[in-house]
Amino acid sequence: MSKIILAIETSCDETACAILKDDKLLANVVSTQIEIHQKYGGVFPEIASRLHVENIGVVLEEALKKSQISLEDVSAIAFTRGPGLIGALHVGLQAAKSLCLYYNKPLIPVHHLAGHIYANEYVTPLKFPCLAIVVSGGNTELVIMKDHLNFEIIGETKDDAIGEAFDKVARVLGLPYPGGVSIDRLSKEGKPTYLLPRPLNDHSYNYSYSGLKTAVINLVHKLETNHQEINVNDMACSFQKVAIDLLLDKALPALDEYHCKQVVLAGGVSANSYLRSEIVRRTKNQDVEVIIPPLWCTTDNAAMIAKVGSYLYEKKAFASLSISSDPSWRLEHFMDFPKKGENHE
Ligand code: KG4
Repeated sequence: MSKIILAIETSCDETACAILKDDKLLANVVSTQIEIHQKYGGVFPEIASRLHVENIGVVLEEALKKSQISLEDVSAIAFTRGPGLIGALHVGLQAAKSLCLYYNKPLIPVHHLAGHIYANEYVTPLKFPCLAIVVSGGNTELVIMKDHLNFEIIGETKDDAIGEAFDKVARVLGLPYPGGVSIDRLSKEGKPTYLLPRPLNDHSYNYSYSGLKTAVINLVHKLETNHQEINVNDMACSFQKVAIDLLLDKALPALDEYHCKQVVLAGGVSANSYLRSEIVRRTKNQDVEVIIPPLWCTTDNAAMIAKVGSYLYEKKAFASLSISSDPSWRLEHFMDFPKKGENHE
């Protein structure tokens, strides 16, 4: 019998629903709120939650229509439990719970970052040991996977996420949200002429992007105060080069240390063109497969949640209906949730 996973993603500013039948993605509907949040220069959490409430039914209906699947046929319902914005996560959680209750289906909680990593399986199967470089607006993590659903965080940011630094630097340069896209574009016209620091430039796998972000902000303010012209393209390029070089300088030694067969990029910042070309260039003499996710996989979507949901379905990792969202859920604890059959069920 076919395995049909319906997945819901509402962790930030995309309302998404996907339907995966065995290995075939039948529908992948994403409604983005980016244009609305652009007015505020970043995601406005309360507005994000309200828009998810408006959009969730619409994306569900469209995914079912596209896939020609009825809810009775679905094997299980997967949803993003965390990490993310609490109000936004709650909308997806409640939608998933209601459907499970009404149609008597198992409920599968999925970790958002596991989703970003598994999005790569739409390109090629994961091979282990695998290094996942997880880079988004809220996270910067180096993850070693020795097997499916086996995550070990070997390093992470001690302060800001790399995407957050891209967004804040873009804002001070007067560029629109999401800043990473603009910085990436302008960098192509610039040169790395501004001298910037490389915080936490040690031999650990940990990062610090707050100092780099602050250095750019301070430099811009100083130039403005002195009425000196700022070359925005050069500033964007200088920042991007340090941010990405630092990311790879620290991440790539893990390939040898953990005898990795594969390295995958995951999360919104993996759309960065300099990161994508640099990782290929720097690993070309190494015996390691580099997986670059297609651009549609780098932004939030529910196809990636369905992929993880499908593996968890095999493990019968079903949640109790008492489960709540977890906005700061750690990847290593992705199996820690109230299970079906426990908690008085
Ligand atoms: O994964 P994502 O969609 O949301 C989170 O879960 O955080 O990532 C969004 C982040 C934003 O910080 C955005 O500026 C960044 O990804 N981003 C980029 C690029 N495209 C998006 N950063 C650098 N270069 C890009 N081309």
